[in-house]
Amino acid sequence: MAIIDRALEGKVALVTGGSRGIGRAICVALAKRGATVVVNYAARRDAADETAALVTAAGGKAAVSGFDVADSAAVAEAIKQIGKDHGGLDILVNNAGVAINGLLLRYKDDQWQRSLQVNLAGAFHCARSAASLLLRAKEAGRIVNITSVVGESGNAGQAAYAASKAGLIGLTTSLAKELASRGVTVNAVSPGFIDTDMTAEHLPEAARAKLLEQIPLARIGIADDVAHAVAFLAGPEAGYITGQVLRVNGGLLV
Ligand SMILES: NC(=O)c1ccc[n+]([C@@H]2O[C@H](COP(=O)([O-])OP(=O)(O)OC[C@H]3O[C@@H](n4cnc5c(N)ncnc54)[C@H](OP(=O)(O)O)[C@@H]3O)[C@@H](O)[C@H]2O)c1
Repeated sequence: MAIIDRALEGKVALVTGGSRGIGRAICVALAKRGATVVVNYAARRDAADETAALVTAAGGKAAVSGFDVADSAAVAEAIKQIGKDHGGLDILVNNAGVAINGLLLRYKDDQWQRSLQVNLAGAFHCARSAASLLLRAKEAGRIVNITSVVGESGNAGQAAYAASKAGLIGLTTSLAKELASRGVTVNAVSPGFIDTDMTAEHLPEAARAKLLEQIPLARIGIADDVAHAVAFLAGPEAGYITGQVLRVNGGLLV
């Protein structure tokens, strides 16, 4: 069901990895609620521009900001600029992520480091750089971190990815406690298997059929399933929810 209210009118949101997949759907969902959305990307400027056009079509204002969330100096500089350009920041969605999969015995140091640096340190860098702006948000600031079902369940061949996503839950609960006194809420949304470039790359047809058997709602998720949960947590009606992990997984893990 489409959310059609304008509860985020006047709010500024930054969505990391907003250029494609789940991040793109989050950008559009926030725009439908009236937000100004800054679409971050790492490499695909073309895709970020497409998302920005969708944001505008959905009724929001759009801007594009390219930076690698793993690069703390680049994050700090970009978020400072966003604050200047838009007069503040109200909502941070830490969505950027990479799935560098491989079995333990063959997994390289640089793969481990990149997984943790993008998926976990990236969210930390963005939260730290955004904190002073979020604390000054006119109404309560919001952070939503995109974790994953495998952060709780584990998955063979995804040790680094799962560890990074489990770490994101610890980051979420700790920041929720740290920022609560100033009304900033910090939550995580934990998708199950969602149709995007990431799963197209790592989920062959046979594995997909097997997976479907384990999902009580009997379908792979779509990016909008996750985006609606994020748009809810970013809105005023979720003001008394903090430190939570909202699972959007069709019942795969309950
Ligand atoms: N798809 C799933 O089933 C699933 C399930 C659970 C959790 N998740 C999580 O949901 C999030 C989005 O996943 P997705 O499936 O939409 O992935 P995707 O289709 O592969 O898109 C990844 C997005 O992250 C951006 N990105 C990657 N590395 C980045 C970096 N270092 N700095 C900034 N941006 C970066 C990409 O930007 P470019 O376009 O510039 O490359 C792209 O916008 C990820 O955190 C993922 O772990 C996904």
